[in-house]
Amino acid sequence: MGAIELVTDLPGPRSAAVLERKARVVCDPLDIHAPVVIDHGLGARITDLDGNSLLDFSAGLGCQLVGYSHPKVVEAVQRQAAMVSHTDFSVIPYEPFVELAEGLVGRTGVRTGKVALFNSGAEAIENAVKFARSATGRPALICFEGGFHGRTLLGMSLTSRNKPYKTGFGPFAPEVYRLPYAYPYRSPDPAAAGALALEAFERAFVTVVDPATVAAVLVEPIQGEGGFVVPPAEFLRGLKEICSRRGILVVADEVQSGTGRTGTFLASEQFGFEPDMVVLAKALASGYPLSAVVGPSAVMDAPGPSAIGGTYVGNPVACAAANAVLKIIDEEGLLERSEQVGKTVRARWEQVAAEVPEVGEIRGVGAMVGVEFVADRETKRPAPAYLDALMRETISRGVVTVGCGIYHNVLRHLIPLVISDDDLEEGLEVLAEAAVAARRTAGIGDRASEVEGS
Ligand SMILES: Cc1ncc(COP(=O)(O)O)c(C=O)c1O
Repeated sequence: MGAIELVTDLPGPRSAAVLERKARVVCDPLDIHAPVVIDHGLGARITDLDGNSLLDFSAGLGCQLVGYSHPKVVEAVQRQAAMVSHTDFSVIPYEPFVELAEGLVGRTGVRTGKVALFNSGAEAIENAVKFARSATGRPALICFEGGFHGRTLLGMSLTSRNKPYKTGFGPFAPEVYRLPYAYPYRSPDPAAAGALALEAFERAFVTVVDPATVAAVLVEPIQGEGGFVVPPAEFLRGLKEICSRRGILVVADEVQSGTGRTGTFLASEQFGFEPDMVVLAKALASGYPLSAVVGPSAVMDAPGPSAIGGTYVGNPVACAAANAVLKIIDEEGLLERSEQVGKTVRARWEQVAAEVPEVGEIRGVGAMVGVEFVADRETKRPAPAYLDALMRETISRGVVTVGCGIYHNVLRHLIPLVISDDDLEEGLEVLAEAAVAARRTAGIGDRASEVEGS
């Protein structure tokens, strides 16, 4: 039997009833992307309240890298919850936190490093900035166009896209300077995208911000929300080189790209890029709220006693889940699996591109694959309405997909790496069919519909 089995229209009656209740009592900005209410998940499969089985190619927005309800995660969580579920680590410490810190220092290449744990990606970014400011004694931060770093005041200030993330929420945090990222597909000179972005970066030290005041540069080695944009290695390595000369710390935001998504534990490794500090979250604890900042001891020890923390940081149950995730990645060869999944996804989209002219670019590293859609391959005019139509078509056929991109025109694949070959093929077949069907439902050729939603 296949993975996908739809026994009702979506939403089915039981999901619809919960969604109605939700609309009455849950705030509207927490809107719903897939019209199904989940009952349970296993691996890459989810089952809703009406008994519909779907594949989740969003992996809970990147968190379920080892799959829903991995038995070893479930076992670790149950065991830990029965022992102790909370103390506040800085009042009474516990071993799973220390074990995870050891695991992360070993895996992130920050050999003389130390770790601090938090709850969300945004909270870890906030704290990475606190460490960097404390260690350097400098206030300013540099981030990039297209970057996404979370929804807290500082995370939002560092984030690039106005709608939906910033509009109406200002004023934003000061001393945040945003510079161009290297985005080859949309560069005036794709082959020189890295060099052009580095030039702009160096120029900014004359025209935008005094480098002597800059504490840190925050960069996603592959942009997630910004469109699965893969920069040339020279851009990332060049940033590090320029910043090292000027005493600026380079923080890699690997919240989405890290923990094995790209075929190495960190995406940074794929580029020979060695950031000073790394931020992880999402897949780290298979959806339990947990994030980490890893950096050199001199930076991580800079703030004074009790200057870093939080009631829930590094919750023991979440740490137990994360320790299980690290073991699963090793034991099940998920880094190699990431390569295979990515190759299969890219190959399928290459075939689709022959039939679907809206496919502008297929890009990615390992299983972090994005497909950018355009109304015209020559002008590269973004096609956000096509992406919306495509996602509706995949979901109605039983595959949950999510989009991204500054123009909201990129399909991102965040497939659980434990997916079987058969389930992967079945899901990709749905994507291929949906890509053709979406041409009809998006009303291709209708200019108004192409700009709507951008
Ligand atoms: C690169 C990146 N940084 C930070 C965040 C914020 O993480 P969280 O939603 O856990 O606060 C995200 C979330 O999508 C992200 O993709």
